[in-house]
Amino acid sequence: MNLILFGPPGAGKGTQGEIICKQLGIPTISTGAMIRAAIKDGTDLGKQAEAIIAGGGLVPDEVVVGIVKERLSQEDCRNGFILDGFPRTIPQAEALDALGVKIDCVLNLEVSDETIVERMSGRRSCPGCGATYHVVYNPTKDGVHCDACGAELTQRSDDKPETVQNRLHVYHEQTEPLKEYYQNKQVLKTVVGKDTIEATTKLVKEALGL
Ligand code: AP5
Ligand code: MG
Repeated sequence: MNLILFGPPGAGKGTQGEIICKQLGIPTISTGAMIRAAIKDGTDLGKQAEAIIAGGGLVPDEVVVGIVKERLSQEDCRNGFILDGFPRTIPQAEALDALGVKIDCVLNLEVSDETIVERMSGRRSCPGCGATYHVVYNPTKDGVHCDACGAELTQRSDDKPETVQNRLHVYHEQTEPLKEYYQNKQVLKTVVGKDTIEATTKLVKEALGL
């Protein structure tokens, strides 16, 4: 299955992706996670992207398309993949089409802006393995370290309230039009993601026929 997890920042794309990729046995490809890794490693891409991410803007299309193209050509994507955070603009979606990649489903997680602000403020991320937690809704055992790899949790630089507002603005302006793009291709499925993580996983699995 070639799946796109779509939705506003903080909708739960990463959280649901982590859960369903295990069941499907295919990798989740998060452009955000790849860019954050490049920043951590101090690569040229990382240097170019650092200020953009911190401000809540989008990294240029040609840069992101390049990293996705490279990633999709790897062996583990042969039986399918889950894209999280890509495409985010119409030109990115067109570039994906131009690669000849057939998308089976675009799963749109709908969450209100108010809920998103609350989720972002409590999010904690693992710099080691990339796992995502929330201080109230999905805490780790000791509240400080990652349950999976033991690294100390951090807060993402783009989870500051003013950056979150900008990310929401960018989403509504540049990314939301993709709903119509994929609706026209008859692959868009919408799941309301306002309830608990478990309840949302159930809806996601139903929508995907799992
Ligand atoms: P990216 O990393 O993709 O961030 P995003 O799309 O803004 O989404 P998030 O990762 O913030 O949220 P999420 O939907 O994964 O939610 P999560 O599961 O963590 O991109 C970051 C930046 O990189 C962009 O701003 C841009 O600069 C750049 N970039 C990336 N891709 C790009 C592209 N294609 N083009 C250009 N630039 C690009 O959940 C959020 C929190 O809520 C967590 O704490 C979680 O535990 C909690 N939670 C989740 N579900 C629930 C629930 N049902 N109930 C209660 N809490 C929940
Ligand atoms: Mg994410």
